[in-house]
Amino acid sequence: MFEKIKSIHKEIEQLSAKNIEDIELLRIKYLSKKGIITELFNDFKNVTQEERKEVGKLLNELKNSLQEKINILKNSFENSQESDKSELDLTLPANFIMGGSRHPLSVTRSKIVEIFSRIGFTVAEGPEIEDDWHNFSALNFPEEHPARDMQDTFFINKNPDIALRTHTSSVQIRVMETEKPPIRKLFPGRVYRNEAISSRSHCFFHQVEGLYIDKDVSFADLKQALLYFAKEMFGADTKIRLRPSYFPFTEPSAEMDISCFLCEGKGCPFCKYTGWVEILGCGMVDPEVLKNCNIDSKIYSGYAFGMGIERITNLKYRVKDIRMFSENDIRFLKQFQSAV
Ligand code: DAH
Repeated sequence: MFEKIKSIHKEIEQLSAKNIEDIELLRIKYLSKKGIITELFNDFKNVTQEERKEVGKLLNELKNSLQEKINILKNSFENSQESDKSELDLTLPANFIMGGSRHPLSVTRSKIVEIFSRIGFTVAEGPEIEDDWHNFSALNFPEEHPARDMQDTFFINKNPDIALRTHTSSVQIRVMETEKPPIRKLFPGRVYRNEAISSRSHCFFHQVEGLYIDKDVSFADLKQALLYFAKEMFGADTKIRLRPSYFPFTEPSAEMDISCFLCEGKGCPFCKYTGWVEILGCGMVDPEVLKNCNIDSKIYSGYAFGMGIERITNLKYRVKDIRMFSENDIRFLKQFQSAV
């Protein structure tokens, strides 16, 4: 009995609790009906007459020391909660959460897609790693065309048939091969060219391609769609002009300029005193391209256009160095916070 009381004493000295619930468990363990100390009191009747006095005293001390321990533990929790409470100053302003912002190229891309979606265009995407057929051959690039040159295109060493796409026109082919007209789609995405990186050119950039194939699609339809786009993107007073140009996959082909929105066409350093700034290439889809995709050019015709997202963004927000778009400098990016 003496030994037992001693060891429980030691046990009690070492007791600890992580929370109020733990303390209640301790009370149950020692003092409940079947608790360790209660059991000892029950055994008291078996203690011999001579030892009774001594054992009784020790048992009471044991019970008291447990009660004391429980009180100490309780107090320590209450005090720490008190101090937690006093450190909480509800009048302080909340922690500042830095709002993110959309990337300027993503803002421009969404704007282009949104404008064309109002006249029936939907979005499709294609792979950035392309084969020669979709990037060049089906688009009517002759075998010896300079755009296929190693200087412009990133080819895969082991297989010259595979390259990083140089334009999103490749997605035209993928869509025309798998879908039947009418087709009215936009193809936004990243493209790659083996060019020296400078403030004006980069080895990767972004384009949006547009394609409309149906019966009786004419150059007038193309011009009307692009005029609508230019006015929505750059302002209602914007004028457009189409200059004859050449692309292997369109015939006839054109480049489109918009009236300079800085000087309203009067001429300034921005438009190099011409009053116009170039924004995209376009044309009527070459019948040869339709044939490559098994679309009958006697029944169907169509137009296509392609523009650089960086170029449009530069014009709209006057970004002077194309490298800014991929450097992820937060001081640059956060200027577009309200551009959504
Ligand atoms: N693919 C051309 C380029 O990357 C852009 C382009 C021009 C696309 C004329 C077209 C188009 O669809 O009709 O420079």
